[in-house]
Amino acid sequence: MTDKTSPALAVVVLAAGKGTRMRSALPKVLHPLAGLPLVGHVLATAEALSPERRVVVVGADAEAVAQAVAPWPSVVQAPQAGTGHALLQASDALSGFTGDVLVLYGDTPLLEAETLSAMLAARRKAAAATAVLGFRPADPGLYGRLVCDDDGTLERIVEAREADAATLALTLCNSGVMAIDGEALPGLLARLDNANAKGEYYLTDIVAIAAADGCRSVMVEAPADSLLGIDSRADLAVAEAVIQTRLRARAMAAGATLTDPASTFFSHDTVLAQDVSVGPNVVFAPGVRVGEGTEILPFCHLEGVEVAAGARIGPFARLRPGTRLGEGARIGNFVETKAAEIAAGAKVNHLSYIGDASVGAASNIGAGTITCNYDGFAKHRTEIGAGAFIGSNTALVAPVSIGDGAMVGAGSTVTKDVEADALAVARGQQRDVPDGAARFRRQRKD
Ligand code: UD1
Ligand code: MG
Repeated sequence: MTDKTSPALAVVVLAAGKGTRMRSALPKVLHPLAGLPLVGHVLATAEALSPERRVVVVGADAEAVAQAVAPWPSVVQAPQAGTGHALLQASDALSGFTGDVLVLYGDTPLLEAETLSAMLAARRKAAAATAVLGFRPADPGLYGRLVCDDDGTLERIVEAREADAATLALTLCNSGVMAIDGEALPGLLARLDNANAKGEYYLTDIVAIAAADGCRSVMVEAPADSLLGIDSRADLAVAEAVIQTRLRARAMAAGATLTDPASTFFSHDTVLAQDVSVGPNVVFAPGVRVGEGTEILPFCHLEGVEVAAGARIGPFARLRPGTRLGEGARIGNFVETKAAEIAAGAKVNHLSYIGDASVGAASNIGAGTITCNYDGFAKHRTEIGAGAFIGSNTALVAPVSIGDGAMVGAGSTVTKDVEADALAVARGQQRDVPDGAARFRRQRKD
């Protein structure tokens, strides 16, 4: 803490706002972006800076937000009387702290750790009371405007609602990201008031308060893309596009081929190994890892899936949570799997539902095979051994097991276990009536 080059860091994430403009029952900061709540992106970025103290200010739907941000501790702000009032709620968490206090907004999910490090460094270098990240959005709209001197000193931040025409015409906007000298912070916050258009305590006012004390603030400009604040569904869609562009670039840089990057959708945690190829219109929901050389054909949806190397999936496959594919496994068109372990070299190539099941190595599951896992009350497992062959259009009524090397005749409804190497046929007997069809036609003519 006495080390002048890198003082201790405290991060306060403001996430108490109602998010009225989202028009949603879900608190704004819990809306997902690439499958992770907005605030989760902010916390992940903050973690990269290894803060010594951390706290999230929650308010609207406090319990749900507190749960989502755990193990980060949270404090409740009630009522939500503005961003300055929100930071005041972190006073106990910051008590005695004299390092850098970094304030992040839970609704600004795209910012990157390098940008934050640069801003923290700029504040220290200038021995400034605060440093603020500025940006120039395509549409400045309701963002606060940064009023700067010629030498880059930030004089004050003016909220759009309070701004006169000349100030509104400024294109440099407040991202909300701020680094504050921890020693000065309590004195600055104590002097905030709510004599403004919204009747709220604006955190942004501390810049002018510091200036009145003769303390400098500095502005650090960052790319607009990374500072988008989400206030509406339209903002959310723009942010999703930005993060998808980043995730596509990341996947390709790691050695995946995307035939049509624009129609490939990733989650924040998707991991594709080298030489994975992905056809158009594939969606990776959260929790997917795909091994080397696997081919994913067009129109697949994967969620909570582990795929080993050299598998082939799709087109038109839906792999649901708990699916594990072994090396070289094949999942074909119109196949759905859930909580299913499909071992190396096994094939489920057409029109099947395999759920709560395991399929042994090199087994072949015929077209239209269904594991009947649910009896209306509970789920039951189907265990299929290695080298088994399940004929087309088989219903496997769980709980049931099929031994290694066993065969099931097409069209069977299997309700009892089948031993290893046995052949089970469980279907109606075929009965032929010689000349029966011809006789039927003759009757219809008369
Ligand atoms: C705020 C800034 C504005 C900036 C913009 C950037 C202020 C006064 N204005 O405006 O200058 O351009 O962000 O996106 O700071 N929050 C609380 N408690 C509250 C109010 C808000 O925790 O009482 C949290 C919200 O959950 C949100 C963040 O603070 O994560 C920003 O609040 P929001 O209402 O979106 O502020 P803006 O109007 O966008
Ligand atoms: Mg906002």
